[in-house]
Amino acid sequence: MLGETAMVAQCPTELIHGGCYLSLRSIAPHIAVNVKLEGFSVSGSIKVKPAIHMIRQLEAAGRLGPGSRLIESSSGNLGLALSMICAAKGYSFTCVSDPNISPLTARAIRAYGAELVVVRERDPSGGYLGTRIDLIKAMLDRDPRLLWINQYENPENVRAHYLTTASELLARFPRPDYVFVGAGTTGTLGGVSTALRERSPATRIVAVDSEGSVTFGRPAGKRHIPGLGTSRKPPISLRSSFDELLMIPESDTIAMCRRLAHDGVLLGGSSGTVLAGVKAHAPMIPADACVVAISPDLGERYLDTIYNDDWVRDHFPGLLPMAAAGPAAGVELSREPA
Ligand SMILES: Cc1ncc(COP(=O)(O)O)c(C=O)c1O
Repeated sequence: MLGETAMVAQCPTELIHGGCYLSLRSIAPHIAVNVKLEGFSVSGSIKVKPAIHMIRQLEAAGRLGPGSRLIESSSGNLGLALSMICAAKGYSFTCVSDPNISPLTARAIRAYGAELVVVRERDPSGGYLGTRIDLIKAMLDRDPRLLWINQYENPENVRAHYLTTASELLARFPRPDYVFVGAGTTGTLGGVSTALRERSPATRIVAVDSEGSVTFGRPAGKRHIPGLGTSRKPPISLRSSFDELLMIPESDTIAMCRRLAHDGVLLGGSSGTVLAGVKAHAPMIPADACVVAISPDLGERYLDTIYNDDWVRDHFPGLLPMAAAGPAAGVELSREPA
């Protein structure tokens, strides 16, 4: 068994498991992809690490104390992690999100006692990030005591991953040939790419984003899966570097997630996008390469969306056959013929 050392945590925020990897041979037959599974940490995603770090930095700067009220925009996972930390520390927290938030994440945020505000109006790029941020700015104007963590501009979001995610990865794979990282706020990409450039400069860094995201100057479009992509370029994205950028359609994300589930591996949407990126890039990767891909969360919170046939038919017409046709339905990485 992996990691058999028992631990007794003194606080939920100590329950971070940065050393879980799954070697997958099913993405492309000639490579073993080492998938770094971040979903086993408390609150269920990689975002707990920047959440802890950004709160600690505010505390160290004397900006947080008993009764402090925090606010943040999140597609779900950072909001969930902050809800947990704020509950543990006695801060009040408001999460501003949008209709793409997973219903289970929304319920968990409220279960921790946080307030969840869901904006419904799309911004000019067709997404919700602009609307979320404009709402926070309006709330800050009305109540200057609110403290905005601002993961899109906060350099500590990048620093958190430099100190944690990147160090964990390099401790297990000191000289990886390829590292695939999804881009949302780009905190993970920024921290991991900075560390790789310093400590393993020959590594090819592959950034993976969703089609429709404007982060890297590509055309805006509607997206339905939370985690990756933005409708407004995050200022911290200037702190990232990479060798390749892959823009993956959400239909490929869904097909990859559902295909892996039938192999016994239930991952979240952004993991499906990253692994669809590995598959797309596989012809360029030699057989003996050391390949690492970061999986930000697990799949349970997506059972009502990515893994729900009705939701997929509603949002991606033509991706699944009209009637479920047994366990292999919808598992191919291409659209079904109409
Ligand atoms: C599931 C999931 N994947 C990927 C990301 C992107 O990570 P980052 O914001 O570090 O780019 C997020 C961010 O919220 C996420 O929730």
